[in-house]
Amino acid sequence: MSQTPTSFPRFIPLLGGLLGSTTCGMLLYAFSVFIKPLQAQFGWSVPEVAMAYAIICLLFGLMTFPAGRLSDKFGPRRVVLIGGVIMSLGFFMVSTITPPDPAVIAAGGDAAREAGRTPLYLLYLYYGVIAGLGGGCVYLPPIATAPKWWPDRRAMATGFAVVGLGLGSFIMAPLATVMINHFGSALPVFKYVGVAMGIMVVLASLCLKVPPAGYKPEGWNPPANLDSSGARKEYRDYTYEETKRSAQFWLLWVAYFCGSFAGLMVIGLIARHGIDAMTIAYKIKEGLDIAAVIPEDVAKNIALTAAGAPSVLAIFNALVRVLIGPVADKIGTKKLFVVLFSLQVVAMLLLFPAGKSAALLAIVAGVIGWNYGAMFTLFPSTLLTYYGPTAQGSNYGLLFTAWGVAGFFGPYLGGRFQAMTGSFLVPFVTASAVLVIAVVILAMIKPPEKKHA
Ligand code: 2OP
Repeated sequence: MSQTPTSFPRFIPLLGGLLGSTTCGMLLYAFSVFIKPLQAQFGWSVPEVAMAYAIICLLFGLMTFPAGRLSDKFGPRRVVLIGGVIMSLGFFMVSTITPPDPAVIAAGGDAAREAGRTPLYLLYLYYGVIAGLGGGCVYLPPIATAPKWWPDRRAMATGFAVVGLGLGSFIMAPLATVMINHFGSALPVFKYVGVAMGIMVVLASLCLKVPPAGYKPEGWNPPANLDSSGARKEYRDYTYEETKRSAQFWLLWVAYFCGSFAGLMVIGLIARHGIDAMTIAYKIKEGLDIAAVIPEDVAKNIALTAAGAPSVLAIFNALVRVLIGPVADKIGTKKLFVVLFSLQVVAMLLLFPAGKSAALLAIVAGVIGWNYGAMFTLFPSTLLTYYGPTAQGSNYGLLFTAWGVAGFFGPYLGGRFQAMTGSFLVPFVTASAVLVIAVVILAMIKPPEKKHA
């Protein structure tokens, strides 16, 4: 195919992906810092606040499907713009929720619960439903768009479109903590960050457009086995209807679900596990009874050290998304999938014994973050290889619903298993077992039928 000229610099869609995904990271991955201040102000229980997170994961994940379809049809810009405004508005609106009288909350009991009920539903509506639905529209389109500009480095471009999920949480968690301390409430964070998110998504949407048909980067001549979109010539460019009828697609869905379910089940528990395990190790070392209360300064120190593990996890979760892309561009995704998922099976099992040492816990958490984050570059890249770029928005939107379902059940069941058994061992072993299913699928899976049989 001859080259279609365009003066649009192709790093711009990468920038759009980076900005858009950063707003999604701010939306999703720093929620844990809001839990305590919201509880204090509204009298909600941890499961009540956590339900807002389950709702946003589910709706964010499910919304990616229509968002991908709409992006394939109307282009990424409009979908990200409209979705982004809705997302920011939902986030902003949390700041308008009126807290109950502090005296009623402080008194506790039925009156406090009653006073917190309406605000709780508003949190579900604004954060869980409105921001979640908008967020799905921001997340998906850049993933389908950026690789179209980089047929020579498609996985690398995909990595840029998702790296902000790690970056966003990285910026947002400390920023929100500073703001909460400054304002004495979490509500203003939703106001100011909501406005910032709005500006960021508008800029992100302006950076996104699809390349002209037949686009090929200047100076790039596809190798003999690739066409100008970077697709292997022996693979067909599937329509969305064909994609969803293929068995491989649903096998990938199950593998994606298993990887996300295991990751999300465990990630939220790591810091608490560290605190528990290090406290027990301290008591054993000091010859204290297991029921003994440890000195406050020791407890504080343990909590601080254990908090390092999720931070290390977040760094690796972000880094892998861009670092794994060029490797996948070279050797394909299958080998990486098998190695990383197998490593994740082992890491989940090591997490329990690692808890008693801050250094070991941080190392295992880093490995888990690395393997977890890799999925968000490798799954879309695999879909591109198997089914081609034409329906990538619709295809990946449908595949990503696996993450939404996992996000609803994973953290909830992780918390339940821990509460039921009083130990973190059960959720960690469950996560490892679920990952074995994914390893088997990813080791066995073969690309769909080739064009030239
Ligand atoms: C991601 O981390 C949103 O979980 C999804 O890319």
